[in-house]
Amino acid sequence: MSHLSSHPIDSLKAIVEVPGDKSISHRSLIIGALAIGITEISGLSFSEDILHLIKSLKALGVKIISNKKKLIIHGVGVGGFRKPKNSLYMGNSGTATRLIMGALSNQEFSVNITGDRSLSKRPMDRIIKPLTKMGIEIKSKNGKLPINLKGLSETLPINYNLEIPSAQIKSSILLAALGSPGLTSIVESTPTRNHTEILLQLFGSDIKIKKKLIQLRGQSGLIGNKIKISGDSSSAAIVGTAALIVPNSEIKIKNVNINKTRIAFFNILKKMNANIYISKKRSISNEDTADITFKSSKLKGIKLKKDTVVNMIDEIPIFSVLASFASGKSSFSGASELKYKESNRINSIYDGLLKCNVKVKKKRDGLDIIGSKNKPYGGSMIQSNFDHRIAMSFLVMGCASEKKITINEKKCIKTSFPNFVKLMNSLGAKIT
Ligand code: S3P
Repeated sequence: MSHLSSHPIDSLKAIVEVPGDKSISHRSLIIGALAIGITEISGLSFSEDILHLIKSLKALGVKIISNKKKLIIHGVGVGGFRKPKNSLYMGNSGTATRLIMGALSNQEFSVNITGDRSLSKRPMDRIIKPLTKMGIEIKSKNGKLPINLKGLSETLPINYNLEIPSAQIKSSILLAALGSPGLTSIVESTPTRNHTEILLQLFGSDIKIKKKLIQLRGQSGLIGNKIKISGDSSSAAIVGTAALIVPNSEIKIKNVNINKTRIAFFNILKKMNANIYISKKRSISNEDTADITFKSSKLKGIKLKKDTVVNMIDEIPIFSVLASFASGKSSFSGASELKYKESNRINSIYDGLLKCNVKVKKKRDGLDIIGSKNKPYGGSMIQSNFDHRIAMSFLVMGCASEKKITINEKKCIKTSFPNFVKLMNSLGAKIT
């Protein structure tokens, strides 16, 4: 059966960990493959997105050995990939596709890249534009997958102004610039997640960051490293929200990444009156990490502006669920990028909330959500639209609604959080 139902419950209690951060996992694998020597990674996410990336890197001639605790990569160096026999299939992963395009820019052979139904609808022209400026030949189906990419032994250094605030675009350019005989400069007016910059620095590349300007001098070498990956803050947001909306609940999530470019959602929670406590702050592989405790809360609605939305773009589905339990009106705007995620998330959230009897109004690039004193009714079948964050957010909503909430398709959850249902049920949820 492809359905999953989440039934209302009385309480959630536990101390848990969530899987390793997916963004850092993608980057550690690719940068480890592009480095010289051995990279050892612990805490990697073994989500479906990451498994597709590992398979693709192996097809490119990278030796990767893993067990449950550690993954070892024998780096081949920038320009050291082997031409794969077949197309690289990236499944559902926009991040893997866009980052691997940057990494492949330093290879003289041509490669075909394909993806699943959802990924094949997502825009790739945002990556094609800067990489073409760097001298890469890219053929696509109207700016979408399937793509054929033919790189160069030396990419051209460029100056690039990031018009769309996107860590994927920034990272793809930085990876392509690793093979450039010169300086590539990127200006990002709105800061986005900076895991690529942190890892490139750790691996010894010549990268400098001065406020909005990121500069990388290519051909400076990357050396294998030991990386520990902390828990995914976006996954922690989903699990933690369950404790905020279910009465008599307390969940402590240990070892969560709290990089300042990833915690907009947690900061917003404080403004909504949420009982959330951050403890044991520390640094793991140059990434800020902490334990976070979430307790049942009486929430109040909040209005999010564009600059906040950019840094919690992956948390907007769970924010919308939370807003349905908050008093008064909540809203977000300036979120047009949500239309280009694993599904058109504005539509997916809107349709789902309406079906659960929540008062919601669609705006051009956002939503108004009116919380109510009563619990959302639920009792509905939600279309996940093959989008893991939509599926998990509505399952969390089912934990605290009047009636159970069912999602029509459960497979997509594996994209980022394969053990989500098992973990939630171990806390006291009833997801069947
Ligand atoms: C990601 C960046 C974000 C985010 C995605 C992961 C990354 O996308 O939504 O889930 O790892 O770089 P954009 O770069 O499109 O904003």
